[in-house]
Amino acid sequence: MFNEEMRFESPIRWAMVGGGRGSEIGHAHRAGAQRDGLFQLVAGAFDIDPARCRDFGTKLGLDPTRAYADYLSMFRLEAARLDGIQAVSIATPNATHYAISKAALEAGLHVICEKPVTFSADEARDLQRRAQAAKRVFGVMYGYAGFPMLHQAREMIRRGDLGDIRVINMQFAHGFHSDEIEKHSPGAQWRMNPAVSGPSFVLGDLGTHTWFLAGMLTGCEVERLCCMRQSFVHSRAPLEDNAHVMLQFKNGAVGTLWASAVNAGSMHQQKIRVVGEKASIEWWDEHPNQLRYEVQGQPAQLLDRGMGYLYNEVPGIATNRIGGGHAEGFFESWANLYHRFGLAMAAADCDDQATLESLWYPDIAAGVEGVRLLECCVESADNGARWVNF
Ligand code: NAI
Repeated sequence: MFNEEMRFESPIRWAMVGGGRGSEIGHAHRAGAQRDGLFQLVAGAFDIDPARCRDFGTKLGLDPTRAYADYLSMFRLEAARLDGIQAVSIATPNATHYAISKAALEAGLHVICEKPVTFSADEARDLQRRAQAAKRVFGVMYGYAGFPMLHQAREMIRRGDLGDIRVINMQFAHGFHSDEIEKHSPGAQWRMNPAVSGPSFVLGDLGTHTWFLAGMLTGCEVERLCCMRQSFVHSRAPLEDNAHVMLQFKNGAVGTLWASAVNAGSMHQQKIRVVGEKASIEWWDEHPNQLRYEVQGQPAQLLDRGMGYLYNEVPGIATNRIGGGHAEGFFESWANLYHRFGLAMAAADCDDQATLESLWYPDIAAGVEGVRLLECCVESADNGARWVNF
């Protein structure tokens, strides 16, 4: 079980770009990163508005001089300090990720960036090359990937409990944008603007999450795909608020991905179902402590986090912070990922390749794949749902 015993002599000095007051996801980063004491927030360029950044940073307990007006000043001034930042998380709207990540790597920092990591796969590959050359850790915040029951699912598939994989069904389909809420929600407004959001809306905002989970669980590689996308709220065009993708994998498996923000009445409905020749598993993010396991010809089973019958010897499954039956959730998943990011950063700093190779976490390679998905989907959808090689 995880507790606060796992510590560094001094925590990683950590900053954020974005994630300021009122942002959707800033708190999740701070809650996840600081949970185990491996990171300490010491600086930030949290907000596009410098005065609000200073006020917010001060209220978070930072030295006011380390709540910076912009990220370039932060990287420059922190580099000049003996106790300057070592790592940064980027939680700004999509259009800014590439430039901020590039500047952070140039400043010698480890980076954790939100998804979709860039607008184009070329930009994402460029970040990958830069991170490798600088020997810096580059994590991508596919935040659901820290849930222990997903690691149980991954291990069951790896051990062959399901047999060969035949079908992978993915969906992340909520209803929060069923009407034109961008008229009064700034967080929704930028998501509908291609200049800030990128070439897609729901595929990038939602689809990349479940897509990453499918790859993480099954290791199946996509051969080709076919996508159709719509803007049911017409003012959102060319960005889609609903999309369906059909997928063919190299091993002969097939799959679908439904990403939607107009699934009226739905809270999240992020689900992944993997069907093998002997059995199927299904995970639902609204009940993340359970994994449904259905063996053909037997009653369905509901496996629960924290129980002795899981493959607890596998890292990622026994990352409990409290016993089974108590609900762990989103913040714990993020803390599990930040824990791994922290260990990877410490290993990179002392060039400990063995530890680095043994640590799994969503990295920039996963970021590249997410952006490739978007590029292929847009190419397919905008050419009459044509099949596109991945
Ligand atoms: P938001 O609009 O709620 O907040 C953005 C924050 O960034 C605000 O505080 C804003 O002032 C600040 N900001 C904007 N430009 C900036 C700049 N140049 N320098 C410094 N600060 C700047 O956006 P939200 O929803 O928090 O999304 C941020 C990112 O996180 C997006 O890329 C989004 O796709 C991703 N996201 C990821 C989630 C996950 O589960 N991993 C969930 C929600 C969002």
